[in-house]
Amino acid sequence: MDATPQAPAPAARATAPGPGDAAPLVLEHLRKEYPDGTVAVRDLGLEVAAGELMVLIGPSGCGKSTVLRMINRLVEPTSGRILLGGEDVTAGDPVELRRRIGYVIQNVGLFPHQTIETNVGTVPRLLGWPARRVRERSAELLELVGLDPGVFARRYPHQLSGGQRQRVGVARALAADPVMLLMDEPFSAVDPIARARLQDEFLRLQADVRKTIVLVTHDLDEAIRLGDRVAVLSQGGNLEQSAPPREVLGAPASPFVREFVGEDRAIRRLAATPVTPDLLQPAATLDGVTGVPSVALGTSLYDALAVLLRTNADVARVTDGERTLGALSRHRVLSIDYPADPVA
Ligand SMILES: Nc1ncnc2c1ncn2[C@@H]1O[C@H](COP(=O)(O)OP(=O)(O)OP(=O)(O)O)[C@@H](O)[C@H]1O
Ligand SMILES: [Mg+2]
Repeated sequence: MDATPQAPAPAARATAPGPGDAAPLVLEHLRKEYPDGTVAVRDLGLEVAAGELMVLIGPSGCGKSTVLRMINRLVEPTSGRILLGGEDVTAGDPVELRRRIGYVIQNVGLFPHQTIETNVGTVPRLLGWPARRVRERSAELLELVGLDPGVFARRYPHQLSGGQRQRVGVARALAADPVMLLMDEPFSAVDPIARARLQDEFLRLQADVRKTIVLVTHDLDEAIRLGDRVAVLSQGGNLEQSAPPREVLGAPASPFVREFVGEDRAIRRLAATPVTPDLLQPAATLDGVTGVPSVALGTSLYDALAVLLRTNADVARVTDGERTLGALSRHRVLSIDYPADPVA
């Protein structure tokens, strides 16, 4: 940390500790019955650890957005409790609550007649920060999401690409250093290539800011890529399974999950499983072997296999970026023992 002890906390970098430290989230018996009688969410319990990225996934209409909007009380729960950082936030002032929670939605929802800088500064301004500090904060956040403030601060939303607008949406959600972020299909409006890049950037950003995040998607690959855990919901906000991506793929907890993760889950499992030290043979097995490709520890098995196939090699050298840690054989990749599959 390079923050000096004298630095005023709220104006410090997004990563500085302070009021915006990530808070754990607990949903208890959450229910939403809309006025017309639709029960969007029947009885949901879910825990998200501080700094964890939880992905909600499930078919259209299963209640994902309703869950998200109950957390910041854009939708008032019919019953149940929401604990944020141990505090029951179901009863207090919803407006005050929303200032502590960043919210990113599919079409970003930038204010079209305000500059990017003004958009990003929305919540700090509402919190009464002095104008200069709001400006500085906006610039800092634009940097953080990879947009040069010198170029973008004075532009209007329509002068940006979809991906750039999406980043502004993330910057705005982070501006007041919230205790958590809610993201509703944040990357679905951009094309697949831009989406993959945004996802990567977003993972890097999250490694830096470590917010508690609940992210909704209907894209399974996105869920696997981004989620520390994935919660699979069926109609009525029914929690079918909540587990790390690998487990959802390798050990679907119900026939619903099994069907939801689909036929190509063998491939998805490879994509969700990193190369770890336990898969390696001693580096000495590489002695005298020529044409050995290298892969980095932590690469997905899918990517490692692609390298082996592309180079027509039986074994790859696994490195930590510098040193050789061991050897990974094609055979090992293809004979991975996944967790037991109870509904196989
Ligand atoms: N204001 C409302 N009044 C009545 N019913 C509603 C309202 N908003 C949502 N619903 C219903 O609640 C259910 C859950 O909706 P929700 O928007 O939470 O689904 P979702 O999982 O986000 O779907 P999608 O993937 O299509 O965005 C749906 O049946 C929807 O029609
Ligand atoms: Mg939705």
